[in-house]
Amino acid sequence: MNAGKFYKANVLVLGGDITGKMIVPIIDQGNGTYKCNYTGSEMTIKSKEEAEALAKTIRDSGYYPYFCEPKEVEEMNANKELVDKLFKRLMVEGVQGWMRLAEERLKGTGISCYISPGNDDIFEIDEVLSSSSYVINPEEKVVDIDGDHEMITLGYTNHTPWNSPREVDEEVLERKIEAMASKLKDPKTAIWNIHVPPIDTPIDQAPKLDPTLKPVISGGHMVMISAGSVATRKSIEKYQPLIGIHGHIHESKGIVKIGRTMCFNPGSEYGEGILRGLLCDLEGDKIKSYMLTSG
Ligand SMILES: [Fe+2]
Repeated sequence: MNAGKFYKANVLVLGGDITGKMIVPIIDQGNGTYKCNYTGSEMTIKSKEEAEALAKTIRDSGYYPYFCEPKEVEEMNANKELVDKLFKRLMVEGVQGWMRLAEERLKGTGISCYISPGNDDIFEIDEVLSSSSYVINPEEKVVDIDGDHEMITLGYTNHTPWNSPREVDEEVLERKIEAMASKLKDPKTAIWNIHVPPIDTPIDQAPKLDPTLKPVISGGHMVMISAGSVATRKSIEKYQPLIGIHGHIHESKGIVKIGRTMCFNPGSEYGEGILRGLLCDLEGDKIKSYMLTSG
């Protein structure tokens, strides 16, 4: 929310996978202390202040701290549906909070803010994004971001081992991208805000996983595979937009050129509380400057 002012950017784009990855209960023991299993072992927290500080650390790492009592944990352990319900509620409330903050921090600054869902995000957040009076959800739309550059956006991806909410076959991705791309006035100045990067590039390399979802190690190294999308690549080759901004594969920070199109993946280190991004200065059909950022 502060990046626009800090980098003097007039447009902010956050392209998906915006919800937290899990709930971390902080359990009130009723005697002023709390128990929490966050780092792999159970720890005892001795005061409300310390518990609040831990909650902040958990939140900054991309998880949802949840204050509760031992009875509620027992109930949730016995009933997975309760956990799912709570998880959805926390995700929706989290996004609502960010929407309020965006409006508070950005209204009147002249900065426009585009936030769209990614494959990891549940469909329940779409309504929150779309009902914001300040943030624009550009998903599956052609939007003109500054009078000179149109942007197409897609948070859906090809299939992953994680069976996330928005995964479809490549043919469906191709249709969705084509539906937007065919409406562009001028692809030469367009932005491909397509969550999944193009296949067979340095920005789509992900660890190969075994059937138990553990990385495959060979010769002391993690085996990497191309996990990007055929449809993303085909559409870039066909339309040759100005720029592709991608994410999804956290391990593959980098830049690649496909024909005239510069494609970027800033990578992600959300677990370390680090926000990675791309700062880009566009002018007409040219990229004046670019820089991968981290902060
Ligand atoms: Fe993703």
